[in-house]
Amino acid sequence: MTTWTLADRAAKMNPSAIREILKLTDRPGIISMAGGLPSPLAFPLDAFTQACQTVMQRDGAAALQYATSEGFAPLRQAVADFLPWEVDPDQVLITTGSQQALDLIGKVFLDRGSRMLVEKPTYLGALQAFAPQEPIPVGVDSDDDGILVEDFATKAGTGADKARLAYVLPNFQNPTGRTMAEARRQALVDKARELGIPLIEDNPYGDLWFEQPPALPLAARNPEGVIYLGSFSKVLAPGLRIGFLVAPKSVYNKLLQAKQAADLHTPGFNQRVVSEVIKDGFLDRHVPTIRAMYKRQRDAMLAALEREMAGLDVQWTRPVGGMFLWVRLPKGMDAQKLLPAAVERGTAFVPGAPFYADEPQANTLRLSYVTVSAEQIDKGIAALAAAIRSTM
Ligand SMILES: Cc1ncc(COP(=O)(O)O)c(C=O)c1O
Repeated sequence: MTTWTLADRAAKMNPSAIREILKLTDRPGIISMAGGLPSPLAFPLDAFTQACQTVMQRDGAAALQYATSEGFAPLRQAVADFLPWEVDPDQVLITTGSQQALDLIGKVFLDRGSRMLVEKPTYLGALQAFAPQEPIPVGVDSDDDGILVEDFATKAGTGADKARLAYVLPNFQNPTGRTMAEARRQALVDKARELGIPLIEDNPYGDLWFEQPPALPLAARNPEGVIYLGSFSKVLAPGLRIGFLVAPKSVYNKLLQAKQAADLHTPGFNQRVVSEVIKDGFLDRHVPTIRAMYKRQRDAMLAALEREMAGLDVQWTRPVGGMFLWVRLPKGMDAQKLLPAAVERGTAFVPGAPFYADEPQANTLRLSYVTVSAEQIDKGIAALAAAIRSTM
């Protein structure tokens, strides 16, 4: 067998802990609250069928040709138009999912050993996207209202060790479902501005609110100090791989050059199809149907937790949007060790530890309520409670 010498960074590329877990839990008959996928019932199939036809008939070869790296102009304009602050379409870069935006930001901002700040816990996929640059991710203490600004300042570092970026998810965070409070948003933006640390604001779930829209994005408060990431994955369909970033002009060209080197451009056909689907206010009609479905399922999960966890020392978040809820088991209990007992009883979740950049909290886990019906949620939460009791 040939022994090839791989780059040091290859050692930092690990299989996603979650994907590995999903292999175990993706068995027939298991009620899985472990997945991170949007509900396929939310995909607007007819609108896509129609748009594909229109794009081929109208644009023909142009839709199949190489395209510009910045993205399809009408789609960049549409993104600039729907964001709630003054955005120049020239600041919008269409990316191959917002996951690619994370990769590009890592390439442009991080060197080996660079300090970067993340929430406790944070989106695992971001830790993975940044890992090849070999930064040092530092977890900032966080509570139900989001990142704690005092700890952010304490961990910001100084001089050559000053954090190159801080990655935050203000709305219906993956994995906890929590939302950053209004006062916290402003305090974080002010502190980041004072310290000169760029904020990376990842907002794929912001439109999936249940009662009222979330507070203004961080980027709206200081457009020069924030790179904003958005996505069509959760409001249309993730398979198209259409996301975007909005960057200050000072750094836009660097991100664009990284994008050119990575994949030249995001598939032009897909960009045109999304642009066609969303024209004429489609999202205003479609997204409320997703909100209503996810809200019903969130309600079912909260009610089931209330009922089944009675008498157990278990706590959970009450998300006001998005797809996830976070559970804290009794102190000393390890969610990873609980998983086989849950699977045995017919349900599955994702243990929380992999979502921490440092100081993992083993007694946490993530539940998704979007791909399971209310009836399955009742059974799944009852099975989870039975598994917890069995290990006490
Ligand atoms: C917080 C967060 N950011 C980014 C992504 C990547 O989304 P996409 O690349 O599909 O836009 C996800 C996907 O689940 C996510 O949860």
